[in-house]
Amino acid sequence: MKNILVTGGAGFIGSNFINHILKERDDYFIINLDKLTYAGNLENLVESENHKNYRFIKGDICNAELVSYLFEKYKIKHVINFAAESHVDRSILGSSIFYQTNVIGTNVLLETARRKEVEKFLQVSTDEVYGSLGAEGLFTESTSLSPNSPYSSSKAGADMMALAFYHTYGMPVVLTRCSNNYGPFQFPEKLIPLMIINSLNDKKLPVYGDGMNVRDWIYVIDHNRAIDLVFEKGRTGEVYNIGASNEMPNIKIIQLILQHLKKSDSLIEYVKDRLGHDRRYAIDSTKIQTELGWKPKFTFEEAIQFTIDWYLQNEQWWKRIISGDYLKYYEQQYLGR
Ligand code: NAD
Ligand code: DAU
Repeated sequence: MKNILVTGGAGFIGSNFINHILKERDDYFIINLDKLTYAGNLENLVESENHKNYRFIKGDICNAELVSYLFEKYKIKHVINFAAESHVDRSILGSSIFYQTNVIGTNVLLETARRKEVEKFLQVSTDEVYGSLGAEGLFTESTSLSPNSPYSSSKAGADMMALAFYHTYGMPVVLTRCSNNYGPFQFPEKLIPLMIINSLNDKKLPVYGDGMNVRDWIYVIDHNRAIDLVFEKGRTGEVYNIGASNEMPNIKIIQLILQHLKKSDSLIEYVKDRLGHDRRYAIDSTKIQTELGWKPKFTFEEAIQFTIDWYLQNEQWWKRIISGDYLKYYEQQYLGR
């Protein structure tokens, strides 16, 4: 049995990871440490909350005392760090919490893990650390880091720190850098759930700039399958890119959602562009495919349909979120409404 400290497990990707992994494996005992920020939601974990191999702890990864106590209490030798402030637009509105959580929080985890001699530390990172691509080319693991937003620069800082702990102390650190995820339980500030929910409510769909920015989309379960594989078999000191080779301009995704929900294109509203908006992301995942034998299981066509249907069937989940004042605040601050 491996006791694994999973941080940020009440967020979108972390909760999907825990729900998935507790069904797949009986040799993992998961201790989920999450601060429950606006993005953390225990409703995401209803199917896991009573599992014998699961504990939830509300707390901050920046709290060194708590982190140290948990390592001791649960004899932690394995860490998967999902916890982060994750939304680019929010990082543009205010960056401090991004550096606090994503850099200082990762430092607290790494320092504690070093003292407690962990056997594996997986840092969940992002393709955004590579910056922006032109019309051609793909991000490989040797692409130099060139982050453009406060969010991506904070993630790049954490990546460099984790690799420095490997080089300096020989710590068993491994990194994953994944492209844009979609699926159930994604907070409706991100493109796909925001567009689905606005469409269902006949609200305008704010498209930044010309709508031709390209993202490379992967279904969250495929990302989590890759994380589990890298966690088990990935070589320490290495970075593994994760992506499903599914590039798409934003406007095409939005039109597809409208078609699926039988809503009119007139809901589309072009708005001012995101500051410093990266033009294109696209991942080369040859390394994880050839070295570890991973490949995506889900096609975009099936998983996006499933995702849209999930939001249709789980109205209560997102209604509780949007009835708060977060989205109003976001629209006022960012879209000038
Ligand atoms: P999310 O915003 O949905 O969830 C983040 C979780 O971290 C929340 O539950 C939140 O409460 C928790 N958290 C935040 N600050 C914390 C703190 N100080 N201490 C403890 N918990 C804290 O994010 P997500 O989309 O699930 O992303 C998870 C990870 O994956 C992040 O590290 C992100 O950078 C990375 N990532 C995301 C994507 C994507 O498309 N969403 C793609 C690649 C990588
Ligand atoms: O690439 C991985 C990254 O993907 C993760 O590291 C981040 O945590 C995650 O948030 C995501 O970042 P993006 O900025 O790419 O995702 P977002 O959903 O915010 O935006 C996707 C694209 O859609 C981007 O080009 C901006 C655009 N967009 C977004 C919103 C919210 C719009 O046009 N309108 C919108 O209202």
